[in-house]
Amino acid sequence: MVERYGGPEVVRMGEVDEPVATEPDLVVRVEAATVGATDSTNRLGRPAFARLDFGLTRPKHPVLGYDFAGVVERVGSAVRRFAPGDRVYGTLAPAPGSHAERVRIAEDGLVARIPDGLDAASAVSLLDGFFTAMPFLRDGGRVGPGQTVLVNGASGTVGSSAVQFAKHLGATVVGVCGTGHLDLVRALGADEVIDYTRDDFTEARDRYDVIFDAVGKRSFRECRPALTPDGIYLTTVPALSVLLRARHARSSSTGRRAGIMFTGLHGIAEKSADLALIGELAASGAIVPVIDRVVPFDEIVEAHRRVDGGHKAGNVVVAMAPVLREARATPGAAS
Ligand SMILES: NC(=O)c1ccc[n+]([C@@H]2O[C@H](COP(=O)([O-])OP(=O)(O)OC[C@H]3O[C@@H](n4cnc5c(N)ncnc54)[C@H](OP(=O)(O)O)[C@@H]3O)[C@@H](O)[C@H]2O)c1
Repeated sequence: MVERYGGPEVVRMGEVDEPVATEPDLVVRVEAATVGATDSTNRLGRPAFARLDFGLTRPKHPVLGYDFAGVVERVGSAVRRFAPGDRVYGTLAPAPGSHAERVRIAEDGLVARIPDGLDAASAVSLLDGFFTAMPFLRDGGRVGPGQTVLVNGASGTVGSSAVQFAKHLGATVVGVCGTGHLDLVRALGADEVIDYTRDDFTEARDRYDVIFDAVGKRSFRECRPALTPDGIYLTTVPALSVLLRARHARSSSTGRRAGIMFTGLHGIAEKSADLALIGELAASGAIVPVIDRVVPFDEIVEAHRRVDGGHKAGNVVVAMAPVLREARATPGAAS
């Protein structure tokens, strides 16, 4: 839990009340949860505008974490779809609380059975990245066959999901990452990889229908010449210029455009459909989870340090259950 803003060292183990399963709710014993970029933001209280939501002077939600995977332990009297013993995964977003031994979630919340063959660490590693990449590419970029999509930060949580989902949508995919992650990004399906330490993708001209900057490292101004004349630049990280241009992007159907989304704020109906799709694609093997490392829950400070470093490959997972099975190996995953 975090009771003041600061670096990874402000995270500590603590006691909170046991969740109770009221009529429409499940209590899930958490086996695995991810520590992600949003947890860093919430822990740091930076950028400052994040405090408007998370607490002006100190965090109003001491337990961080959004996504979880585990086993249903108790159900309320009105619950019909789930029973104790079911293996489930889901997200508590927009409020945090999954860095805990147990979570409570409504039966009609963002919770579903874990696809067969996935352990908890693998299941939870599907959520943050795909919940983010899917709407960006499908709704923001309208990605489809015949398009060329560049994913900047292709080895991160969002980027590794974006590479896979853009391939699933039929696009030609170019992934940008550092030298150590080129093989991983190729293994995830990228048709071409660019090492940002050697080459600058923004030097291309009129090439990409979509540039998805999954890590928000390059501006629209820099990327604009590399877009096709009707291409769109999408970023996960808000810049004022993009926020202003995003209004234009919605109203304009021609010309190079820029857009941003705040996928964490999307409604439950939209996210439920995406959770079902994530489950289907994972069950068929069309997408795979990418795990940077699995860290025991009581070493969560190390997990925060790894996330803050900005070079994880996919997801950092904290494992609550002492008997958590070895995380399924991901092709080419580097640590
Ligand atoms: N708008 C939204 O709705 C939304 C939703 C979720 C997340 N986000 C935001 O999305 C961002 C990305 O999150 P994430 O969890 O995917 O990040 P992440 O996993 O921490 O990204 C790490 C990856 O970024 C790569 N990288 C680092 N510097 C780079 C550079 N200069 N150029 C290209 N790649 C670089 C690293 O590759 P190497 O190690 O190979 O260098 C590493 O694999 C965060 O800022 C997060 O807050 C926004």
